[in-house]
Amino acid sequence: MIARSTHKVLTGRRSVRKFKEQEPIPEHVMGRIVKAAAFAPSACNLQPIDYLAVTSQASKERISPHLRWATNLNDEMPKTGERPSLYIIPLMDREKIARLNEVKNIDRRLLENAHLISLGCAVANLVNQAHAEGIGSCIVGAIDERAIRVDFGIAAKYSIPLVIALGYPLESPRIELVAGDSPPTYYRDGNGVWVVQKREVEIKAI
Ligand SMILES: Cc1cc2nc3c(=O)[nH]c(=O)nc-3n(C[C@H](O)[C@H](O)[C@H](O)COP(=O)(O)O)c2cc1C
Repeated sequence: MIARSTHKVLTGRRSVRKFKEQEPIPEHVMGRIVKAAAFAPSACNLQPIDYLAVTSQASKERISPHLRWATNLNDEMPKTGERPSLYIIPLMDREKIARLNEVKNIDRRLLENAHLISLGCAVANLVNQAHAEGIGSCIVGAIDERAIRVDFGIAAKYSIPLVIALGYPLESPRIELVAGDSPPTYYRDGNGVWVVQKREVEIKAI
């Protein structure tokens, strides 16, 4: 049973760009979401990420202009009343990442990629736990990192690769399956429904 419900969560999660702005995410639920991220795999178990929760109205208003939504469409910026009710900022601790250099016999290739892979694992856990809690999310990589750093006084030892926007969803995107070799896209259809194309899974056995 758990396998099926986990699969439902992992395949049913979609990025959401319209939220019930006035419906706050309870603190204990936020705690579970961040804990799921913190317990993700990380290279050499360095756990190089700290988490900042943007919860106050003033802070949410400050971060909002520093994010870009579905950048290739240009008009997906959430409207007032439909904005996220919470933002989580994963902070990558450069000092912890640097400890990878001290690991004996580490593969050079892993050294270059490890922190981004660890970030991906943590962020995937975070958005999937959010979805399991009935909360929509959008990973926003198109951010003004410098402006966020200045506005929130974030220490230089941290890099800010992305921000995760969260809130109870006001929309239910639908999936459109496309052949494995056609480039997938996303769009809003004539009825205003957000459509996400996913490539049909092809498993090549060798
Ligand atoms: C690293 C990364 C960066 C992303 N950056 C943005 C972004 O800046 N703005 C945005 O609206 N969506 C962003 N997304 C969300 C993607 O557009 C979304 O995951 C993709 O369209 C697939 O849709 P799905 O998440 O519903 O499966 C990002 C996703 C990832 C993994």
